[in-house]
Amino acid sequence: MSLLPGGISEYIEAHTTMAGGMYSKIERETYLKSVYPRMLSGNLQGRFIAMVSRLLRPAKILEIGTFTGYSALCLCEGLAPDGRLHTIEINEELRSQHLAYFKEAGQDGVITTHYGNALDILPTLDGDFDLIFIDADKVNYCSYYELGLAKLRLGGFMLADNVLWSGKVLMEKDEKIDKDTRAVKDFNELVQNDYRVENVMIPLRDGMSLIQKIC
Ligand SMILES: C[S@@+](CC[C@H](N)C(=O)[O-])C[C@H]1O[C@@H](n2cnc3c(N)ncnc32)[C@H](O)[C@@H]1O
Repeated sequence: MSLLPGGISEYIEAHTTMAGGMYSKIERETYLKSVYPRMLSGNLQGRFIAMVSRLLRPAKILEIGTFTGYSALCLCEGLAPDGRLHTIEINEELRSQHLAYFKEAGQDGVITTHYGNALDILPTLDGDFDLIFIDADKVNYCSYYELGLAKLRLGGFMLADNVLWSGKVLMEKDEKIDKDTRAVKDFNELVQNDYRVENVMIPLRDGMSLIQKIC
């Protein structure tokens, strides 16, 4: 999936630090065992969210959409001492896989995993998150945004993945728009018109928005 002109994606990948190690193992095994391995963040996006986290040094991180745990480990790289990452996943079959990776990476002590629908779990979590990563089903992005914003501290940041949705966000109203594309377009409009935040959309892989709660 590339939205960039020929060769540019490969060039970007070739000029981004390769994390390797545990990350390569998770990526390799996810491609071997999962039905939709492309859901995994991968090296470029993983390095980006790890660096955002290292810049912010968050004490509390929330991730919506754990999958095999790749992005959770990237986000953990910036955790402040005694910090915690909460991650929510609806598919319990992934439990043993990501828990094994968290343990092997030595991060099981700082990660709390929640299993179930994020729409149900989000309202039960304590607030004051410093950083929230939205990376689950697109049809609920607007709800995750609203529920997440209520749990984000003032000045805190959100990252939302897939905001360009393979370029389908350019589809016009009169074209036959599928529900996921509709949802991503609605999410982008919601954020863009929200006085409570400042946002920047980055053409990273499938598009990522960085959003700060300003009031
Ligand atoms: C794109 S994948 C996450 C990828 C992961 N963040 C990474 O970068 O490796 C989306 C995940 O969200 C989960 N998911 C989908 N709907 C959900 C929901 N309503 N509540 C919680 N998790 C959900 C899926 O099962 C899937 O594992």
